[in-house]
Amino acid sequence: MRVSFHNFSDLHPVGVKDEATKRFVQIMEQNSFIEGAYNQQFEQKFALSQQAKHCMLVANGTDALELCLRAYDVGPGDPVGIPSVSFFATAEAVVNVGAHPVFIDVDPKTCLMDPESLKRALNGPKLKAIIPVHLYGMPAPIKELEVICQPCGTHIIEDAAQAHGTCHQPGRVIGDSNNLVTYSFYPTKNLSAFGDAGAIVTNDTSLVDKIVMLRNHGRTPSGHALIGYNSRCDHLQAAILDLKLDQLPSLTQKRREVARRYCQGLSSLERIRFMPKRFVDLSSWHLFPILLPSSQERDSLRAYLGKCEIDTALFYQKALCDELTLSQYNGEGDAGREFCGTTISLPLHPFLTNDQVDYVIEMVSKWEQQETNG
Ligand SMILES: Cc1ncc(COP(=O)(O)O)c(C=O)c1O
Repeated sequence: MRVSFHNFSDLHPVGVKDEATKRFVQIMEQNSFIEGAYNQQFEQKFALSQQAKHCMLVANGTDALELCLRAYDVGPGDPVGIPSVSFFATAEAVVNVGAHPVFIDVDPKTCLMDPESLKRALNGPKLKAIIPVHLYGMPAPIKELEVICQPCGTHIIEDAAQAHGTCHQPGRVIGDSNNLVTYSFYPTKNLSAFGDAGAIVTNDTSLVDKIVMLRNHGRTPSGHALIGYNSRCDHLQAAILDLKLDQLPSLTQKRREVARRYCQGLSSLERIRFMPKRFVDLSSWHLFPILLPSSQERDSLRAYLGKCEIDTALFYQKALCDELTLSQYNGEGDAGREFCGTTISLPLHPFLTNDQVDYVIEMVSKWEQQETNG
């Protein structure tokens, strides 16, 4: 049985295609290509869905991070704490504003920013900001990090590129904080555009005007008040996001059902560790990472599943602190290194059938049996 990593055809059924085409034609006829009515409509709906007061669409998730750093006046020479494991963009945004990444290690059980490592980092130069990442859709421990950061005046930018609809506790979505929370709508994300797009969500009204200015060349009605960016989101992408947002709650629910089935089916295996079960109903399950005892076993399982026509993926083969281009920056990263060396992601998307999930579980179990019997 073939089990693929993505399923774009079910994500874009005829109804979505027809409505998308209608919206494209409408935008062409109106010549309203940048920041049109769908931008405002989506911003209002997405803010509401993430339990935030404000949403600002931008060009992509990397720009969203950079704009947040600029909004907090982070600039040349400022230390910014980032987790030892994330997509490269988390570090790139920091370097691109002239600031210095400081690596904060991750909790070995979750791969999320470890508050104890943050405390150790704060014994050094004051961090102007930290960027915890809700990696794979799991909620980073923001409340704990806030308690540590507040006395030092360290700002928090939450990188939620992979975490649309993630809850930090039942019924409370991660966008409900006073921090700046960034999203990516890259085509493989849980909520995806037909190209690049991103957003910043917050309850902090004081930063909204500045971010709106920054995304559009620092423009104000009377001129350019800041050196900003061209980071507007085009109307076509906003129209698609607005259309697809309605599906997000049911698709997230389906992802959680698949994750629950994996957790139940894999729980008796000795060589496989997965994310804490308390995340089943909280994570948005952008990915389903599993940990193996060693990189050799990880590679062996991957090859085995490949022969069974089951797609797997290796994200973050290196910790950020081991990237050559980031090697001049300091911090902690041992747990992150270990995580990167032993993790693979199993297929998880909302259109997997129970039979497909059970087939994956069966094949992973067979691999373990084979390893055990030598
Ligand atoms: C954790 C994380 N941060 C930031 C980004 C950057 O988003 P974008 O590709 O929209 O610039 C991504 C995208 O993959 C990501 O996964």
